[in-house]
Order: sequence, then C-alpha cells, then structure tokens
Amino acid sequence: MKVITKINEMQTYINKMKKRHTIGFVPTMGALHQGHMSLVAAAAGENSRVVVSIFVNPTQFAAGEDLEKYPRPIKKDLKMMKDSKLVACVFKPEAADMYPEGFASYVALENDMPQVLCGVTRPSHFKGVTTVIAKLLNIIKPDRLYLGQKDAQQAFILEKMMKDLNYETVAVICPTVREKDGLAMSSRNSYLTPEQRNTAPVLYTSLQMAESMIELGERNPETVKKEVRRKLKESQAEIDYVEIIEAGTLKRCEKLCGRVLIAAAICIGKTRLIDNIIMDIKD
Ligand code: PAJ
Repeated sequence: MKVITKINEMQTYINKMKKRHTIGFVPTMGALHQGHMSLVAAAAGENSRVVVSIFVNPTQFAAGEDLEKYPRPIKKDLKMMKDSKLVACVFKPEAADMYPEGFASYVALENDMPQVLCGVTRPSHFKGVTTVIAKLLNIIKPDRLYLGQKDAQQAFILEKMMKDLNYETVAVICPTVREKDGLAMSSRNSYLTPEQRNTAPVLYTSLQMAESMIELGERNPETVKKEVRRKLKESQAEIDYVEIIEAGTLKRCEKLCGRVLIAAAICIGKTRLIDNIIMDIKD
C-alpha cells in the first residue's frame, strides 16, 4: 500500500495507474471505522484499484467547531487499511498544500441544498466539502466516488455538484453501518462519555419510529416530526433539527410520497450526532 502526501506525486501515480486500472475513490477525514471500511469494500468490489484520502479539511469547519480536536489516529488508520488488503494507495495531503497562501477558488452550490438541515447551524460547511471534493476529484480522477448515506445531505450535494460540473466520475452512495444498538458509526462517537453513549441510540430509534408511522399510513410530515421530537425530548439529547424532505433534491414536501429523507441531528453534551432513513413511499 502506497502512502502519498504530495499532490504532484499523487497526480503522477494516478496518471500511470489510470492506463491499466479503474479507480474507486473513498474520501475520508480519518479516524476510520467499519462505516469507512464498508465504502472501501464496495470500491474494491467494483474497481481494480482503491484510493483512500485522509484529510481533515479545514474549510468545512467553522470557527469554534472541532477542527483541532478532531481525532487523528493516523498509525491505526494506516494499519486498518493495510490489513484490509483492499487499498492500493492512501493520499494524505497537507492543508498548506491543498490551500496554499492566496487560495481563492471555492466551489459551492448556490441553491438551497447547502442551507437546509445541517446547513442551518453550519452555513459554510458544505462549501468546504464541495471545494475539497472538487479538488480531490481533479487530482485522483476516479471512475467511481464512494459516499456514505450516513451523511445524506453531503452525498446529495456532491451528486448535484458532479452533475452540474460534468464530472464523469459516478457517485455511489452506500448504506449506513451501525453499532449493534443502532447508533450510526461515526468518528465523533468517541467524544461521548459512557452515559452519553447510552443515550445516543435514541436518535436512530426515533427515526425508526417515524418510518413505522409512515408505513402505517401517516402522510402528514408535521405529525410525524412532532412525534419524533416528543420521543427525542424524553432523553437528555438536545434537538438541532428533525426534518422530512424529498431525498435527492432536499426540497420540502407537503405530503409524504415518493423517496423521502427522514433526517435528524441532536446534541448530547457538546457532541453533535446526525442520522437519517431514506424511504420509498409507494402510494
Ligand atoms: P468522514 O466523516 O470521515 O466520512 C467519510 C465517508 O464515510 C463519508 O462519505 C461518510 O458518509 C462515510 N461514513 C461515515 N460514517 C459512516 C457509516 N456509519 N456508514 C457508512 N458510511 C459512513 O464525510 C467526510 O469525512 C468529509 O466531509 C469528506 C467527504 C471526506 C470531505 O472532507
């Protein structure tokens, strides 16, 4: 497994590799867990070479967020990828090379997609995500890009950016990997105290309750959201948002039909957790 830190070295390596191989790319911020590894496995199943990036992208963190505190267990990450025997190359660029002095070319969606859900409390977050992924796609030129449904808003925004900007790379969205009690795996789960960790599964059970209500025929999103909020309030979690919107476009829906995204974010102590369920409503 090759580990490359320099952008020009990565470009040379990729240009050589592209002649003989298809490339599956998994962008990450490290602190890898089984959620990330499921993307690696999916990429290995559909491409002859897998490239993983590890980069804690400063432009997607606002002042006061956890950029400094974000876990960086790089040795453990590299070992996990090497042991999997699925990864050909890890790209681990330096922030100073990705964003040199005078960097000015940001990529951002100008519709509402980055403003809803997580965008309400993190208004500049997705601009950082689209910018870094645009750069990484230009450097790695993968055939396929692997993203987790865990961050559904991010995945749909990136799909839209890739369509609008004519990237030939295909986006593949993979299912959320969960702990035994349903909590979605996340690098930020390590911030939780044992007591907070016991509370955390309420996020997914609340979303599952919403899913059941819809399965049983409820079609008013407000009624479902109210019940989810009520259930979340019973725990020590503080609600950031509970939303049910159109999957893919992230547009409001008055009546529940088609493919919908049931999404919520909560804070437990200082830790913010997000999760979602995507449902296909037939009638
Ligand atoms: P990070 O949080 O490290 O996640 C990297 C990828 O792993 C994302 O596509 C995310 O959706 C996916 N992922 C995280 N937890 C998952 C889980 N439990 N099951 C399945 N997939 C999961 O998301 C980012 O990094 C960054 O914003 C990035 C896209 C790398 C841009 O900086």
